[in-house]
Amino acid sequence: MKKSEGYAHGKIILIGEHAVVYGQPSIALPFPATQIRATITPSEMNNLTIECMFYKGLLNDMPELLDSLKKVIEVSLKRLNQPNAFLHIKIESTIPAERGMGSSAAVSVATTRALFDYYKQKLSREELLDIVNIAEIIAHGNPSGLDALMTSSSQPYYFIKNQTPELIQPNLDAVLIVADTGVTGQTKKVVQQIATKLNQTDGSHYQEMMTTIGELVKKSRLALTHNQAEELGALLTNTHSLLSQLGATSPELEQLVTCALASGALGAKLTGGGGGGCMIALAKNTTEAKHIAQNLTQIGAKSTWLYEMSDLS
Ligand code: PMV
Repeated sequence: MKKSEGYAHGKIILIGEHAVVYGQPSIALPFPATQIRATITPSEMNNLTIECMFYKGLLNDMPELLDSLKKVIEVSLKRLNQPNAFLHIKIESTIPAERGMGSSAAVSVATTRALFDYYKQKLSREELLDIVNIAEIIAHGNPSGLDALMTSSSQPYYFIKNQTPELIQPNLDAVLIVADTGVTGQTKKVVQQIATKLNQTDGSHYQEMMTTIGELVKKSRLALTHNQAEELGALLTNTHSLLSQLGATSPELEQLVTCALASGALGAKLTGGGGGGCMIALAKNTTEAKHIAQNLTQIGAKSTWLYEMSDLS
C-alpha cells in the first residue's frame, strides 16, 4: 500500500513572543523533544478522512478547532492539482496542543510535507512556509511567521517578521527547563487582547513595552552567543514582567515562574502565546536544572523537559 510520512517538531520561543507580531525581533529554538508525524495512505472509501487525537472522520465534518488543518490540506491539494484526493491522513503528536510550542504550525508542516511526498512533488522551503502561514492565519489571526519557520527548521533563529531570518550560533553553558502548566492557552485570543490594548487611545504605553521587549531581545542575542547566562536569565525575567503587564500570563504561569526563581533559576518567563501553556527557566547547570524541574513538578507542572543549551553550540 502506498504510504507517505511527514514530520515536524515543537519550538520554544526564548524571547520576543507577541512583540514579534509588531515587527520586533525574537529568538526561537527548535524543540525536537516533541514531534508530530503525519501519515498518508489511500482511503478505503472514496473520501478524505482524518484521524487525530481530537477527531476521526471525514475532512468535511471536522470541528472548527481543526479549521487550520482543513485549510492546509485544501491548499496543499489545490497546489498539487489533486482536488478529489481519496486519502486517509493520520496525525500522531507528542507536542502538547495549545501550550505555546507551535503545535498548530507543526501539524501543518508535517501534513504538507507528507502530502507533497505522497504525490512525489518537490516542496521548496518558501512554498512550505507559504502554505503553513495561510493555515496559521486561521489558527492565530495575525501570525508573525515564526512558528512555521521554527517547527520546520532544526536550528535556532533570530527572526523579524517579513525579513529573512538569521541563523544564530548559541554559545551558552546553561540548561533551559521547559515546564507545562497543563492548562491550555489560546494564542489567537491573547494576540487579539494585546491588539485591543495597543489600539486603545492611551495605547502608547503598550507600544513602548513592545519596543522595550525588542531591546531586551537584542541584548539576549549577545548574552546567548557570548556565554553570559546570568545576563540572559535577567533579560528573560524582565521580559516576563512586560508580558505579564501586557496580559499574556495566567495564575498557573505566575506560580511556575515564581517557583523557578525561588528555586535558584537565573531567569524565567512564559514562552509562546501565554494565557496558560508553557514557561521556561534558565539554570546554571544540569544539577540545578533537575532541582528546579523537580520543584516545578511538585507544585503542579504537568511535564518538564531539560534542554542543554550547549547542544546548540
Ligand atoms: O503559542 P504559539 O506556540 O503559537 O506561539 C505564538 C507566538 C506569538 O508571538 C504570540 C504569535 C506569533 O504569531 O508570533
